[in-house]
Amino acid sequence: MALLFDELTIRSLTLRNRVVMSPMTRAASPGGVPGPRVAEYYRRRAEGGTGLIITEGVAIDHPSSVDHTDVPRMHGPAALDGWREVVDGVHAAGGRIIPQLWHVGPLWGVMQGGGSTPMRPSGLWGTPGVTAYPPGIVEELIRPTRTMTDDDIHAVIEAYRAAARGAVAAGFDGIAIHGAHGYLLDAFLWADTNRRDDRWGGDAARRAAFPAAVVRAIRAEIGDELPIIFRFSQHKQQDYKAALARTPDELAELLVPLVDAGVDVLDASSRRFHQPAFEHSDRSLAGWAKTLTGAHTMAVGSFGLGASLREAHAGATRSTTDHRLELERRLGKEEFDLIAIGRLHLADPNLARILRDGASLPEFDREAHELAFR
Ligand SMILES: Cc1cc2nc3c(=O)[nH]c(=O)nc-3n(C[C@H](O)[C@H](O)[C@H](O)COP(=O)(O)O)c2cc1C
Repeated sequence: MALLFDELTIRSLTLRNRVVMSPMTRAASPGGVPGPRVAEYYRRRAEGGTGLIITEGVAIDHPSSVDHTDVPRMHGPAALDGWREVVDGVHAAGGRIIPQLWHVGPLWGVMQGGGSTPMRPSGLWGTPGVTAYPPGIVEELIRPTRTMTDDDIHAVIEAYRAAARGAVAAGFDGIAIHGAHGYLLDAFLWADTNRRDDRWGGDAARRAAFPAAVVRAIRAEIGDELPIIFRFSQHKQQDYKAALARTPDELAELLVPLVDAGVDVLDASSRRFHQPAFEHSDRSLAGWAKTLTGAHTMAVGSFGLGASLREAHAGATRSTTDHRLELERRLGKEEFDLIAIGRLHLADPNLARILRDGASLPEFDREAHELAFR
């Protein structure tokens, strides 16, 4: 796996290899404050050789950003002190770490809910399709809520800016933005949930305007040294079969404004990293993102696993497939630059060392590895 263990420099950040821990919500930070257990969890993955850790989604300081009390926050002195411990531990182990800033938007209510008004570009949840949410929850959430006002939009942009400031103060190595899976920024990109006809909606360029404004605010806040990573996806939790873009041209219209605004790495969230994104080519979503924008890109999805995340949730957990040659082949073609791996990082904190040594891949067991926090 020689290519996987090449260094990569993005702005002032040098990564020791191309192995990235994919962001995974753990809800293990009571009151939103990451404690010593969280610091230990991330430090172990850095000690295991992972080049870059992207943290679980972290709430920005906005009333309806994340509806779970144990999801960590990126605001308040206690949370920022907790993050400083996390970052110091990862750095001491030679790793790098970037927080994923999160606003759930239309998906407010799927965890704990509560009294806040969900932020939705046009008051819509999205047309439900193949979803893991039970029908009762869908029925409740699908009721239209109010459309975001200009004031709402500006308040959220400012909350992203403040979160980026806090993250840099805590010592993080860059900023990652959750713009996928049907959450707030994705709900602006997705034509199904964005029916606006003002400057924040309409054609693809206008649907990208709000996510691009968030990127620009963060770039202005953090300066030119640190990288910005933006996660996007075709699939939505409202409908795994949905598509943001039907053609490469449509995808370019959404992604180019984000790169122009200051994104360095497009994180192309897919259910399978090697799955062709469009007809007539075996190029993956991360491959297309790189071809269309020239930015660095990251692939993700079911590395080392036969079952995608959605299928695994339905029960099939123990299924391992060795994708090492497939990964090396695609890195060799420079189809993408980084591979994010989620569940196998839960299965074994030494995953990167296993890959480097050519040892057997760990088996993922949902009960033991995902539902337990280790
Ligand atoms: C327990 C769990 C929590 C997740 N939470 C997040 C999250 O907070 N943000 C995000 O962008 N993706 C999240 N994901 C998706 C993963 O980052 C990753 O894209 C997905 O699991 C596919 O990669 P894998 O097949 O290697 O696990 C989560 C996945 C799992 C298993």
